[in-house]
Amino acid sequence: MQIHQALIKGRQYLKQQNVASYSLDSQVLLSHITGLDRTGLITRGDQPLTPAQLQQYEKLLERRAGGEPVAYLTGHKEFMGLDFIVSPAVLIPRPDTELMVERAVSLLRQSGARPLPAVDVGTGSGAIAVTLAHLVPGLQVYAIDISPDALAVARQNAARHGVADRVKFCQGNLLEPIPADLQGKVSVITANLPYIPTGDISGLMTDVKDFEPRLALDGGPDGLALYRKLIPRAHRLLHPGGHLLMEIGPGQGAAAKALLPAASWTARLELDLAGRERLVEGEKRRFRLEGIS
Ligand SMILES: C[S@@+](CC[C@H](N)C(=O)[O-])C[C@H]1O[C@@H](n2cnc3c(N)ncnc32)[C@H](O)[C@@H]1O
Repeated sequence: MQIHQALIKGRQYLKQQNVASYSLDSQVLLSHITGLDRTGLITRGDQPLTPAQLQQYEKLLERRAGGEPVAYLTGHKEFMGLDFIVSPAVLIPRPDTELMVERAVSLLRQSGARPLPAVDVGTGSGAIAVTLAHLVPGLQVYAIDISPDALAVARQNAARHGVADRVKFCQGNLLEPIPADLQGKVSVITANLPYIPTGDISGLMTDVKDFEPRLALDGGPDGLALYRKLIPRAHRLLHPGGHLLMEIGPGQGAAAKALLPAASWTARLELDLAGRERLVEGEKRRFRLEGIS
């Protein structure tokens, strides 16, 4: 079978199987198997697939029709222009999270040539931690996850992007693994912790609820259980004027902002490009005598 025929048939099959992104998915899977980019699939469309390639393509199409996310089938996902290795042990990095990275980079760049260390909690594939280290020269990042399997993937990504010497991976709960001598010395904490309310998980798309790790999704009864625990610990860790950035889902803005007590934080809510609530930012207040009455 020629490449262009395989593309048409793959697209038809996924459409019949009600895969919404049937056109893009058939193309990404065929690119993965042939090593050809989108243009290559067209310009070399009359080239035949080898029997092994055809068999592999059929298997992947079938798995995709069963709901498996394309990124798990190819083992890769692009985030902030970098290619990340992914496996079913990690959440697939989302474009939504780029807002948090852009904000963190801007804060870190404002803080001078040698910013204080940053912490990424719930690092998963390492998408946030590795991108921060890649974009901010000299930055030291502590990347924490409770899942050892996720950390194994994140370590590969740090090595792949040449930042393994500046990203320290730690396994543990929230900020517990951070060494005590870092208290009060951290510039930015990024947290894309699970924030989906437990009761909403069964209503998610099959791709997410049946394939992505539950540990990466379930944020407790209101979705904010982990942020509630994180905030006091983050306050101790941050330098005065340092920032805690927390990704949230639409509708969680007011409740998440209210978790940051006004006496110790200045809180802001940011919307994503689609106008949805996406990021809650807390700046640790600096001590001021004027504030004492
Ligand atoms: C929503 S995923 C985010 C992954 C990655 N930061 C990203 O943006 O693509 C949340 C991650 O938090 C981790 N996690 C869940 N509970 C945790 C906890 N108590 N302490 C540390 N990490 C936790 C999960 O294993 C998962 O990798």
